[in-house]
Amino acid sequence: MDAGLSFTAWVLRNQARHPGARGELSGLLLHVGLAARAIAHQVAVAPLSNMHGHAGSTNVQGEQQQKLDVLADQHFRGAMAHSGLVATLVSEEMEEPDFLAAGEGAPDAEYTVFYDPLDGSSNIDVNVTVGTIFGIYRHRVADRGRAAELLRPGREQVAAGYVMYGASTTLVLCVGDGPVSGFTLSPSVGEFFLTHADMSMPTIGKTYSVNESRTSAWDKRTQDLVQAFRDGKVPGGARGARYVGSLIADFHRTLLKGGIFMYPGERDRPEGKLRLLYEGAPLAMIAERAGGAATDGRQRILDRQPTKFHERCPLFIGSKLDVEEAMKALA
Ligand code: AHG
Ligand code: MN
Ligand code: MN
Repeated sequence: MDAGLSFTAWVLRNQARHPGARGELSGLLLHVGLAARAIAHQVAVAPLSNMHGHAGSTNVQGEQQQKLDVLADQHFRGAMAHSGLVATLVSEEMEEPDFLAAGEGAPDAEYTVFYDPLDGSSNIDVNVTVGTIFGIYRHRVADRGRAAELLRPGREQVAAGYVMYGASTTLVLCVGDGPVSGFTLSPSVGEFFLTHADMSMPTIGKTYSVNESRTSAWDKRTQDLVQAFRDGKVPGGARGARYVGSLIADFHRTLLKGGIFMYPGERDRPEGKLRLLYEGAPLAMIAERAGGAATDGRQRILDRQPTKFHERCPLFIGSKLDVEEAMKALA
């Protein structure tokens, strides 16, 4: 059986549509695919290779690193560095940006990649879906080493996406002004194949997704918003509750079925838990391109100007009408 259009063929077709393209972004995307395959393998065999559990270190967020966080970061960084196309890496697991030495990145490498190497770390040891999230920006070579120049709103991403290491390994991304496309890894062939062309998010959904154990930490407007979804007093009526605890799993379900995912700000952490540059912004690009929306409760996630690399932001993302409910309640 013909497995269909491979990720490699899709990337090269995409490039052919841009006659002026030099193939650098294509090469970078193929290296993202390589990293995804390497991490997928590590996730699949983690219990066999003693890669579950804590690494015994903490990251810049003050969170205990899991062994697989560190290993996924090494694999993603290695693939980006060996591509010779990346000037700067910003990882959840590294405090400062990694300005790749010119020897590693091509002298005129002009891409910055923000990434969360392993999202959903609390789910690693219980074999629940985890993932990798990435956002790619084009930055002028002159910006190398100039951190402030790297902090750009998410609307300037040239590509963004995520990989889900679940029952199947799925790569979902959008490039430039192209559609959201989903690829599934064939373990026997070792390549991703197009399985979800031109993904679009239903304008309304049947679920809402939020960690309701945080209810007492929210302000009243947030409590009332979540109550409205719980009681079905929103467009589309009655809702089911779904919460995996891995952002990419909750988001992927929302992308396919509609609904809303929320990680609100709280009284003692008004910016919430999730990070803007390697969680909120890449998923917001996917959500908007698929016809959905994403806000921090005050503005579009993609319009938010970051001031720090590990900046957190409240996140309300999903079906357009559902996110509008959040904006009405919170803005
Ligand atoms: P990470 O594992 O990269 O730190 O991300 C975990 C995030 C995200 O995946 C998920 O939506 C959220 O943490 C869950 O947080 P709670 O356990 O507080 O609900
Ligand atoms: Mn994460
Ligand atoms: Mn992570």
